[in-house]
Amino acid sequence: MAHAPTTVTVTGAGGQIGYALLFRIAGGDLLGPDRPVRLHLLEVPQGMRAAEGAALELQDCAFPLLDSVDLTDDANRAFDGSSVALLVGSRPRGPGMERAELLQANAGIFGPQGAAISAHAASDIRVVAVGNPANTNALIARAAAPGIPSDRFTALTRLDHNRALGRLSEALGVRPDAIRDVTVWGNHSATQFPDVSHATVDGVPVTALLAERMGGEDAAARWLDDVFVPGVARRGAEIIEVRGSSSAASAASATIDHVRDWVRGTHPDHGWTSAAVVSHGEYGVPEGLVSSFPVTSDGQAYRVVEGLELEPRARARIDRSVAELVAERETVEALGLL
Ligand code: NAD
Ligand code: LMR
Repeated sequence: MAHAPTTVTVTGAGGQIGYALLFRIAGGDLLGPDRPVRLHLLEVPQGMRAAEGAALELQDCAFPLLDSVDLTDDANRAFDGSSVALLVGSRPRGPGMERAELLQANAGIFGPQGAAISAHAASDIRVVAVGNPANTNALIARAAAPGIPSDRFTALTRLDHNRALGRLSEALGVRPDAIRDVTVWGNHSATQFPDVSHATVDGVPVTALLAERMGGEDAAARWLDDVFVPGVARRGAEIIEVRGSSSAASAASATIDHVRDWVRGTHPDHGWTSAAVVSHGEYGVPEGLVSSFPVTSDGQAYRVVEGLELEPRARARIDRSVAELVAERETVEALGLL
């Protein structure tokens, strides 16, 4: 039987990430090749012309799965009947800024959008905050929608996860999809901890493979500490410096991966992935924070993979990133946004 169209809302549809996202959603990459989509695009008045242009191009692609496109600057209309909400619309950082510096500029967007989601979205709504600082923006949106189960609110750290896979793939000379069980912990910020201590390729620990290629365990540990971890954590800043504006196509691609795996389920043979989800206290992360964890999905919800052993240095790195999330929560509380 043919599926009814699913309503997907994209905020900031006239921006860079929006432009890289819309065509992939309409082409079936987000929900699957048998799932028609109804696109609801939310923009502020200044972004409307760019979004209108993207809507014209969507029509010109003649995507068989694209049921309709509705463009609005009214959040209530944009989230009406929505099953998937991609919260992209917000200001990106410029060179030399940290993502947390966007808190003041962007945090005010996410409360009203959470309230509009609460009032108008479909009962199966799933939300991912992409706009920065993504974890805390998801926290704000969730707080404004107390009637919606907390596992429906997430933030994007899949880009960091994919960045980690890309780096490891190059260092090990294997395909990215041969590497399983990498974790990004904590905040989508420079304090995040991309962790390979449980990662394997064909059952062999990644740490052993790195030691083999780099001439010993010490050299591999130095590479992880001095190159890999800071390289992944600071990749967003590197892109801004080299490209002149923040990552767009890779961010859109990671957003597609995040939602696709959430909706269609992660494959047991491929291990876990990383997503920022609402903590229930797993790994000592204070309840209610939106923090990145190792997660799997059964097609309904992302669930944290529990019971992993953490070495003291890993523990300390996670604690540092979580402390930053606590501080961001205190800042938005002080701003009256929670
Ligand atoms: P952009 O400036 O190109 O586009 C943002 C769009 O959002 C603009 O068209 C703007 O008009 C619109 N907008 C602003 N306020 C809005 C609102 N209240 N409602 C709806 N639309 C609104 O920026 P971009 O490059 O697309 O980046 C968007 C956000 O995503 C930034 O905050 C950026 O830092 C973030 N980002 C996150 C990740 C991640 O991995 N989490 C990766 C890349 C970028
Ligand atoms: C990224 O990681 O590329 C985005 O969060 C943009 C940024 O500000 O780094």
